[in-house]
Amino acid sequence: MKIKYTISLIFIVAVVIIEKENNIISKVSDKLSLKQTPQTPLQTSGSSWVSLHQNGSSVLGLSELDLSSYLKLKWRLWNISEPSKGGKHILLLATTRTGSSFVGEFFNQHGPNMFYLFEPLWHVERMLTLEGGGTSGTALTQVHRDILRQLFLCNFSMLENFINPPPIDHVTTGFFRRESSQSLCSNPVCTPFVKKGYEPYHCRNRRCGPLNLTLASLSCLEREHHAIKSVRIRQLETLRPLAEDPRLDLKVIQLVRDPRAMLASRMVAFANNYKHWKRWMTDEDISEDDNEVRKLKGNCENIRMSAEVGLKQPPWLRGRYMLVRYEDIAMFPMLKAAEMYSFTGIPFTTQVKEWILRNTQASNEVSGVYSTQKNSSQQVEKWRFSMPFKLARMVQKICGPTMDLFGYTFATSEEMLTDKSISLIEERSFL
Ligand SMILES: *[C@@H]1O[C@H](CO)[C@@H](O)[C@H](O)[C@H]1NC(C)=O
Ligand SMILES: *[C@@H]1O[C@H](CO)[C@@H](O)[C@H](O)[C@H]1NC(C)=O
Ligand SMILES: *[C@@H]1O[C@H](CO)[C@@H](O)[C@H](O)[C@H]1NC(C)=O
Ligand SMILES: *[C@@H]1O[C@H](CO)[C@@H](O)[C@H](O)[C@H]1NC(C)=O
Ligand SMILES: *[C@@H]1O[C@H](CO)[C@@H](O)[C@H](O)[C@H]1NC(C)=O
Repeated sequence: MKIKYTISLIFIVAVVIIEKENNIISKVSDKLSLKQTPQTPLQTSGSSWVSLHQNGSSVLGLSELDLSSYLKLKWRLWNISEPSKGGKHILLLATTRTGSSFVGEFFNQHGPNMFYLFEPLWHVERMLTLEGGGTSGTALTQVHRDILRQLFLCNFSMLENFINPPPIDHVTTGFFRRESSQSLCSNPVCTPFVKKGYEPYHCRNRRCGPLNLTLASLSCLEREHHAIKSVRIRQLETLRPLAEDPRLDLKVIQLVRDPRAMLASRMVAFANNYKHWKRWMTDEDISEDDNEVRKLKGNCENIRMSAEVGLKQPPWLRGRYMLVRYEDIAMFPMLKAAEMYSFTGIPFTTQVKEWILRNTQASNEVSGVYSTQKNSSQQVEKWRFSMPFKLARMVQKICGPTMDLFGYTFATSEEMLTDKSISLIEERSFL
């Protein structure tokens, strides 16, 4: 026993010493990088926080970057039109209640080589809704695309225009769901905590100062791969310019789910917006002309049209599109995650595997509607026992072509809907 403890102690001491050495080394390299570039001034004001010169004499207003990452960063900023070199840009294209937060974690948990953003386009939608809309679909599509492109290139400046209240000196406490992005809650973006007023979106795992987007941008540039989850892109087709942008190596993963289950889940999660559907559960007949029904139909059509574009594999999208069903992920999370990683060409890390193991075990705890921790296979068929046949039939009517495309079987009677021995999910491979 004693020997074991001694060994552990020695090990800990060794780790502490190595850590210290690392610190010293990185401090030395800071000095080196500063020494090599004596003639340039630091520029830290406005968006020109970096000065760029072709002859190697630029310097960042940053002391925490070590020499090698500094050189890498400098190279990338110099030659911004240089094609992407191995770094992947993953877009998780989903709609609400398709398990996109859960799948987002597959990439969020990847480790220090990944920069992950959770639903950044929320700010755009929010701002335009507050301003009373009036924006045409096309304009919105362009804004979404431009912001996505900039975010993939680690530039937050356009998104900043949509953050409310506006960031001051690129610092904000209002970045939507900051805590859902490890990259925004770990070093170096997690600055020391300062006691301030109420912060709606603070980091959960540790206390951090308000989000400095300049720092986030630098950290983003240092990481090799980038992933963004969004439920706000309606048509895959609109992303064509990103797929063709030589600076990006875009990989789109479209996440779909049985529209009947999606509706059932939304009725619980967004109860206030689904009052009509709730009323239809009991009395009243559903009218296909109702606005809510038309909305669901439009949603299903967008999903189907995007998938049709993707599955056709046009030249601009070849090797850049993957379709994944929620149900397959719920039933085979590890397998599906491995397939996604193989598609993106990024190593499937132990951290991700461990996270999946931890979060797909049975759990009896009620964990909230946004939680990703649930007994996955149980979850898949739950909706069949809460949704009246009447509603299921309506969804089948308005989302029929979408269901056909993804292999979701129609229930032809109340009995069939609630018969556990009949699966409503056909086996399909979209690879
Ligand atoms: C390049 O460096 C030299 C000094 O080595 C300096 O005089 C010159 O202004 C620099 N050129 C640019 C474009 O910054
Ligand atoms: C920038 O990239 C272009 C295209 O790849 C290349 O021709 C050029 O030499 C690069 N410039 C520098 C300064 O590295
Ligand atoms: C970020 O994008 C804006 C345009 O929205 C541009 O003016 C700015 O120079 C970009 N910043 C960097 C560091 O490339
Ligand atoms: C944000 O981070 C940058 C880069 O480290 C730094 O120069 C700047 O002063 C920070 N902004 C604020 C307001 O602290
Ligand atoms: C999850 O739930 C299903 C259905 O109730 C059950 O068969 C399965 O054993 C559960 N999974 C685990 C890991 O407990």
